[in-house]
Amino acid sequence: MALRCDLIIRNATIFDGLGNPRFEGDVAVTGDRIVAIGELGGWEGERDLDADGLALAPGFIDAHTHDDRAVLCGPECMLCKMSQGVTTVVVGNCGVSLSPVKMAKRPVPPLDLLGDESWWTFGSFAEYAERLATDPAPVNTYALIGHMSLRIEAMDGDTQRAATDKEAAHMQARLKEALEQGASGFSTGLYYPPNMMAPTDEVIAVAEALRAVGGIYVTHMRDEADHVLDSIQETLKIGRDTGSSVVISHHKCSMPENFGRSTETLAAIEAAAANQKVEFDVYPYAAGSTVLMPDRLRQDVQEQITWSIPHPKMAGKMLDDIARLWGVDRRTAAQRLVPAGAIKFQMNEADVQRIMAHRLSMIGSDGLPHDTYPHPRLWGTFPRVLGHYCRDLQLFSLEDAVRKMTGHTASVFGMVDRGVIREGAYADLVLFDPKTVADVATYDAPIRPSVGILETWVNGQSAYVYGQGATDARAGRLVTRERAAA
Ligand code: CU
Ligand code: ZN
Repeated sequence: MALRCDLIIRNATIFDGLGNPRFEGDVAVTGDRIVAIGELGGWEGERDLDADGLALAPGFIDAHTHDDRAVLCGPECMLCKMSQGVTTVVVGNCGVSLSPVKMAKRPVPPLDLLGDESWWTFGSFAEYAERLATDPAPVNTYALIGHMSLRIEAMDGDTQRAATDKEAAHMQARLKEALEQGASGFSTGLYYPPNMMAPTDEVIAVAEALRAVGGIYVTHMRDEADHVLDSIQETLKIGRDTGSSVVISHHKCSMPENFGRSTETLAAIEAAAANQKVEFDVYPYAAGSTVLMPDRLRQDVQEQITWSIPHPKMAGKMLDDIARLWGVDRRTAAQRLVPAGAIKFQMNEADVQRIMAHRLSMIGSDGLPHDTYPHPRLWGTFPRVLGHYCRDLQLFSLEDAVRKMTGHTASVFGMVDRGVIREGAYADLVLFDPKTVADVATYDAPIRPSVGILETWVNGQSAYVYGQGATDARAGRLVTRERAAA
């Protein structure tokens, strides 16, 4: 008698997510779990799929996203990620999380990356988690709580200063509460005004809440340019003083005068990693994207507008061209455009590659899903690593590329039974063609699904099929970091 399962994927080239050499085999799935791997001739599946030698990997984990709101908007909203093979997103990055704070008016940048006040309706993480449970997302969600969201509430909007001890204690209590309700860590965006007003001690006071549960500290550092080494030291100190693992977000060396300095930053991180848990994520592009900041423009760094509230038609255009069109200088043009977002061409390709190739790196898109004319990383990150950087430039092996998107990431974030193809693990899977996988999204045409990603499964359910788009499955769950042993 044949052994039965819901889904069997036969003749796949299996990448286990841990970096082990690929092997040929079949994978059987029942419910939300992988139930068998190997030569499964004696098995029968409700659905029987011949992979014909194509690659089967654990579903990709997007280590850095701003999908807090996108996971609440249904399958179409997450098409940008599922079409890349992504099955889990880490939300609440850069100090910005959709809970636990409600907004009566449009929030200040960069909180408004997630939308206007109509989206800020979750006064606690429990309410956000409740929404994910009753109205599930098509992908899994792993949540961080943002420093800026906590500050707005604790400091009653008066955030252009350091928090008082009392306010920091309030933030710590709110973070603790959220961690008890299923959030996994704490993020900061110390680069941004008004968060830059927060001294290291304030961050440590709040992050102290992480200790009891072994939560993770994730940071868009204070400085990614001239003082990037100081910022790395600040991050490491926060980790040590609170007993937390740390993740440096979208690691980069910003601005032309710092090009090449990733040799120094990686050496510093590497040295620290011998004594404390530290990793970083990176996106595969030499341009960043965030809110437009008229005070931080530089003549030698081009900016492309991604959205603008007063001038929505300018999305997609270069700031220089807009300034010329309006007959003003770029600063004046930028001041007219805000609130707005921009892509900044501020990095060096050699640094991007060196950082990506490092053994501690994870892949995170940092995609901005609500931008009118988004940075192409939103739709292209994972296929770009697999196609452009792995296959075409041979920056690393395909086993290693997959590890940076799956098993390594799951282990850093403490996601249990995810990011790996193993019996008993969750059936988050992606089937792709290593020969053709490629990003198609560009700076000129950013909203384009990749090619070569054939099917994506979330908790055993088919979530995306190439050529057909998102299915109506909503199999995503809230994923919480494995708790430290009490
Ligand atoms: Cu970010
Ligand atoms: Zn950031």
